[in-house]
Parts: sequence; structure tokens; C-alpha cells
Amino acid sequence: MRVLLIGSGGREHALAASLAADESVTKLICAPGNPGMGALGECVPVNQTDPAAVASLAVTSAADLVIVGPEAPLVAGVADAVRAKGIPVYGPSGEAARIEGSKAFAKEIMAAASVPTAAARVCRGREEAEAALDEFGAPYVVKDDGLAAGKGVVVTDDRAQALAHALECVSANHGRVVIEEYLDGPEVSLFVVSDGKHAKPLLPAQDYKRIGEGGTGPNTGGMGAYTPLPWAPDDLVAEIMERVAEPTLAELAGRGIPFVGTLYCGLALTSKGLKVVEFNARFGDPEIQAVLALLETPLGELLHAAATGRLADTDSLWWREGAAVCVVVANEGYPGDTVTGRPLYVADEARIFHAGTALDAAGQLIATGGRVLNCVGTGASVAQARQDAYALAEGVKLEGGYYRRDIAANI
Ligand code: AMP
Ligand code: GLY
Repeated sequence: MRVLLIGSGGREHALAASLAADESVTKLICAPGNPGMGALGECVPVNQTDPAAVASLAVTSAADLVIVGPEAPLVAGVADAVRAKGIPVYGPSGEAARIEGSKAFAKEIMAAASVPTAAARVCRGREEAEAALDEFGAPYVVKDDGLAAGKGVVVTDDRAQALAHALECVSANHGRVVIEEYLDGPEVSLFVVSDGKHAKPLLPAQDYKRIGEGGTGPNTGGMGAYTPLPWAPDDLVAEIMERVAEPTLAELAGRGIPFVGTLYCGLALTSKGLKVVEFNARFGDPEIQAVLALLETPLGELLHAAATGRLADTDSLWWREGAAVCVVVANEGYPGDTVTGRPLYVADEARIFHAGTALDAAGQLIATGGRVLNCVGTGASVAQARQDAYALAEGVKLEGGYYRRDIAANI
């Protein structure tokens, strides 16, 4: 099977590594890919968010399966354009991807499907925003309605800061902002592989969203993750499938918007039971880097079955024993402005996935993005996997490079 993988981040590098290890994948094309993915497949340039360009690349590369990694191409309708060429694609239509692209749409689907989530108000101006902030009280949760790479959310006890972010969202974006009830309790990410009718969960994971140790400072795309969750109740995944994933997928299908791809269920386990914090339409980054380290089922076969509506015919997923931990090495300044172009040295290509890297004119690896590398360790327990991941991170050489020291600590 010839596979075209769209994307260039750490998530896609990890997907590429699992695809390259699947015997049924005879050719892997990464578009645009990154310097780490070059060792696993052929990297070709493409404008990821141009549906016509991706569809035409799928045709010229004779792809049997296209996998779309990031959200922006999905929301832009890349999967629709590929599907229109008759090529199986793992990734939802632009309409279905609105479950991530519009928080207001996600809330509407959840209300219709009776899926538990935080109470929320869509506000269109100062008066509505102030009323919503006062209705819910502190801590305030203020969300950009559109895509913001995990950085559009402000959670704060400071009403003035909450209001300022709300007004910024209203004026900068679609004239509206979502303000919602604060959810306490640990967060869980569960990735559900769906073929539109049937769905299979991967192992649950936990992500570390804030830049600072102890969960301090601004939100990021994610600074680290681990899987599985030894502290979680045994029936957690079954409960999420029953109360969240299945009703949501059924509601979408019932509206004529079948969801083919990853339904990312971001949940809080609150004192009042589990509630959805967010849905995404793709694998979480960096959680999937840890989850894939434990997946034994060939990934290409699984995603091809989902893309072609045959998930019900596939076997149960196979998992390695033990745990996996991913530690993100970020550039100085992230999640604000970062310095780019500093040289980077990576010791273990097989278990360090590239995110914000490039090759300079002399062929030297340099750091370009905010999140630069993902170090994935494994072991018999979370504690052992953590030691393994930190040993990898310590071997990275990047001036000003930063990583949290408390990923998967005390689990
Ligand atoms: P989102 O962009 O909706 O994924 O939110 C990003 C992060 O903000 C989440 O992973 C949470 O850590 C935090 N967050 C979002 N909504 C809430 C909420 N209602 N209560 C508490 N924390 C939240
Ligand atoms: N790690 C969170 C996300 O991928 O949105």
C-alpha cells in the first residue's frame, strides 16, 4: 500500500515511524514532512492547506491511502478534495472537522447528543461577555471560537484579564467568543478512530498543557504526555465511548456528516463526573507520540480500514505492556516569540521526533518552531518510561532549549 501522509510536526513524524514499521506500507510519502521524516519516507513539498494541491499530489503519487495529520488542512477541506478523487483518506471532511474548528458547533452537537460538557455562552460583545463572566465566576475560562493551536484559551482568576482576552477574541476573529464554566479535575485525552459508523479507542493519555512546571504559565500546544493512566478507573475508556464518543459520532452521522478520522475527546474528570473540555478532529500532539510507542497493531492497516468503512471487520487492537512518556523540548520564548535558526543536535533519531526543525543551507539541523523535538521513552512503568524520556531530552543540544521537568512525575 502506498501512503501519503500530510503534515510536518512531531505527531506526523511519529505517525511516519509507525507507518514505516507496517509491512503492508510499501511506500511512504510525507508532504511536506520534516528532516526527521526524511529517513522514513520520501518528503515532497506541498501547500498543506490547499485542497486541490493535496488532491493532485495524492493522484500523482498513486496513493492508496492519504492520512491528514494536522487540523488546518482538515478544516480547509483537504480530505473532501482527496475523497472526491476516489482515494481513501483518513481524516474528516471540512464540515465534520468543525467539531474542532468551531467551539460553538461542538457545543451544539454535544447539546443535541446529551454529551456532558461545561456550560457555555457564545458572546458577541462586551455586555454579553461581562454577563457570562459574572454568571460563571472565577476561575474564568475564555475561548477563541476558531482554531488557535491550543493557545486561544485563557483560564484565569483575574476578571480584567479574562475580559481583555474576550474583547480581543471578539474584535480579532468572528465577532464572538466562548465563555464557559470552569471544569476541575484531571484531564484525559482519548483518541477514537472512526470509520463513520464504528469506532475504536486508543489508550487514554494525559497531556501537560501549560508551559511552566506545576501547571503554571500560559497554555501551549502541549509540553509532554504519558500513557496509559494507571490511576484511572478500569471502565474509564468504556464510559467515554458510551457517554461521549458514540453519541457524538451518531449525532454527526445523523446530520449527514459522517466523521471518518480521529475524534479526539479531551475530558475533565470532575467531581460531578466526566465532562468534555474540547473535541479535536485529529490525533493529539504530543499525546499520540506516546500512544503510538505502545501500539502493536499495524497502523497503516488500521487507518486504511477506517478510511474505507471496514473498522468493524478488524481485530481488537494490540498493545505493548508497560508505559510511554513524551517530553517536548521547546525553543526559548515559546509559547511567545521564539528565536529560530539555532543549531540543534539530536542523539537518538529513532525515538526523538522532530517538530520545529529544518536543515539550513549547509545541511545543519536547526530549530525553527516553538515546539522543537519530542523525546519518547518507554518502560515497564510510567516511572521507568519517564527516566528513559528524560535521558533522551538531556542528550539534546539546543541553546536556550527548554523542557518541563515534571512530565509524568509522581504518577
Ligand atoms: P481547548 O482549546 O478548548 O482545548 O482548551 C485548552 C486547555 O485549556 C484545555 O486543555 C484545558 O487545560 C483548559 N481548559 C479549557 N476549557 C476549560 C474549562 N472549561 N475548565 C478548565 N480548563 C479548561
Ligand atoms: N496536545 C493537545 C492537542 O493536540 O491539542
